Amino acid sequence: MPTRPQKRSGTAAEPAVAPIPLAQLSAISPYQQGQSTIEGRDAVIKLSSNEGCFGPSPAAVLAYQRVASELHRYSDGSQTRLREAIAKVHDLDAARIICGNGSEELIGLLTRCFLGENDELVLSENHFVMCSIYGKAQGALIRLAAEENFTTSVDEMLKLVTPKTRMIAVANPNNPTGTYLPIAEIERLVEAVPKHVLVLLDGAYAEYVEELDYDAGLRWARTAPNVVMTRTFSKMYGLAGLRIGWAYGPAAIIEILNRVRTPFNTSVPALAAAEAAIQDFDHVKRVTAHNSRWQNVLQNELGALGIHVVPSVANFYLMHFENIPGKSAGQAGDYLRSRGIIPRPAGDDRCLRLTVGNDEENQAVVDALRDYVRS
Ligand SMILES: Cc1ncc(COP(=O)(O)O)c(C=O)c1O
Repeated sequence: MPTRPQKRSGTAAEPAVAPIPLAQLSAISPYQQGQSTIEGRDAVIKLSSNEGCFGPSPAAVLAYQRVASELHRYSDGSQTRLREAIAKVHDLDAARIICGNGSEELIGLLTRCFLGENDELVLSENHFVMCSIYGKAQGALIRLAAEENFTTSVDEMLKLVTPKTRMIAVANPNNPTGTYLPIAEIERLVEAVPKHVLVLLDGAYAEYVEELDYDAGLRWARTAPNVVMTRTFSKMYGLAGLRIGWAYGPAAIIEILNRVRTPFNTSVPALAAAEAAIQDFDHVKRVTAHNSRWQNVLQNELGALGIHVVPSVANFYLMHFENIPGKSAGQAGDYLRSRGIIPRPAGDDRCLRLTVGNDEENQAVVDALRDYVRS
């Protein structure tokens, strides 16, 4: 049972004046969303949340519009059509797919179902923040593995595995770093971890990765009894506002998640748009080509200014200014905002993370950072 505060403020004679939350919740700071406005400016370039820079696929928008007159209906609680569409595209068993209100919901459900009070959750030093928030809410202990060059280290993660470890989560590519682990490294992690430990492979940015030695997690989620892969429609498919993601894993784990999720966790428009989006291969091709072209340009142009840009395989990039005397991420962030560009502070505010935007947005970033560095 989760703990409650030792000292209650009420007695029988003098009752508490308000309900008392679980003690472990006091250790949680609310998730900070990417900023979306700048005071005094009507138009901004929002590069703070890794959203798809081309918006949703046109096929998804059409599907969304088509169900507008069906909004009085509950959605299909069994998510059959979307699960079957995903299964067809990825050659999977539809029965082992679960869809969620964003992949975030599925990460939260996995944590709730498999992590208890005083269990240990191993994460990389720079991890997707919701993982530690969900872990803390369970009263679990968060163990953070040091990184090497902003990259998850399997050796450091394995050093933290103890008899109390119940879950390990790796975002691959990782957010906020944008770096990835090749197949051989994930293989080493999965092989070394005891089978009673849940391994969550979060592939939120998988569609952007072109490296041949990468696998989002399916090769392990298909066969290992303890590996679950999560995916999202929020990034490549541009459906962040609809909230839809999915997971694949062992039948026994997916069945547990289905027991505790809300019956209609995925909405009518989200299911329809995602079903169309996953079959829009042209959209994926177009976005991937744009993203990798700009990742190269940004790496070169910003690198030439002396800015350290962490090599990224996702649709965002992390930078720091520690090599440039007198410059800092905090100042650079202020400068970008003064030019109408919204980055996201990361890495304890020592870094900035920016989404790859459209051509004009990316050029505006390069121009602004050139002016900042030379100022
Ligand atoms: C690594 C990672 N995982 C999961 C998510 C959650 O995505 P969503 O809930 O929109 O599917 C995000 C969102 O930014 C992310 O960066």
